[in-house]
Amino acid sequence: MNQDILLQLQNASVSYGGVKALDGIDIALDEGEIIALVGPNGAGKSTILKAIFGLVPLDGGKFCWHGQQVLPRPHEMVRRGATFVPQGRRVFSRLTVEENLETGGFVVADKQELRRRMKEMMEFFPVLGRKRRVKSGTLSGGEQQMLALARGLMTDPKALLLDEPSLGLAPKIVKEVFAKIKEINEKHKTAIMVVEHNIKSLLDIASRGYVLDKGKIIARDTSQYLLESDILERVFMGK
Ligand SMILES: Nc1ncnc2c1ncn2[C@@H]1O[C@H](COP(=O)(O)OP(=O)(O)OP(=O)(O)O)[C@@H](O)[C@H]1O
Ligand SMILES: [Mg+2]
Repeated sequence: MNQDILLQLQNASVSYGGVKALDGIDIALDEGEIIALVGPNGAGKSTILKAIFGLVPLDGGKFCWHGQQVLPRPHEMVRRGATFVPQGRRVFSRLTVEENLETGGFVVADKQELRRRMKEMMEFFPVLGRKRRVKSGTLSGGEQQMLALARGLMTDPKALLLDEPSLGLAPKIVKEVFAKIKEINEKHKTAIMVVEHNIKSLLDIASRGYVLDKGKIIARDTSQYLLESDILERVFMGK
């Protein structure tokens, strides 16, 4: 067993009704690394993150956390140290920035510790500190994405699962979001699995990547290799 592997899907399959969304997936996230998950629409990228977090059941294969097979369920995964930030930056729009952060820290029982983490997040994302009492629904897209990230970080996770963090953001904001993701990884040694269509930006911060197509992993390699090879072009242009 590789001691560095934090979490892993082995020969995992998922179906929605009769439709197979994942077919024999092997994927691992090591402690402290950033990995990229790329592929065309409908390839099964979001389903991989959902399966890891326990939002969809596996109908074949297994999931391991620290080398031990477990049945993932969202609340238990949070307690183990995983956080999922879904596609579409879900924040509670009627709640303020501060209240959103508080909900992100629901497993933190110690109120003083909860305050400390909220303060830390508002320092790490200064815009959130400035807008702490503002209703989240009025924040810009980039600010909401920062808030979604910050909420996910309230539990100080060991593993962060991010689904399309740059979706719908302007190029300059995309850069900021990716810089923050890298900074989270470097400061806290958080292992991060990122799904993205913004492949170049993602592979710039990831050490390695998986290419997914029609529910199968068709390539896995270092980011540098994936960028230099023609595999991405072939998958995305359907060649
Ligand atoms: N709740 C669901 N019910 C039925 N089919 C689903 C459901 N969610 C996903 N699927 C199907 O499973 C397959 C994989 O979907 P998934 O959302 O994982 O793809 P994706 O790679 O994240 O795509 P995108 O880049 O568009 O977000 C698709 O064919 C999709 O239509
Ligand atoms: Mg998706």
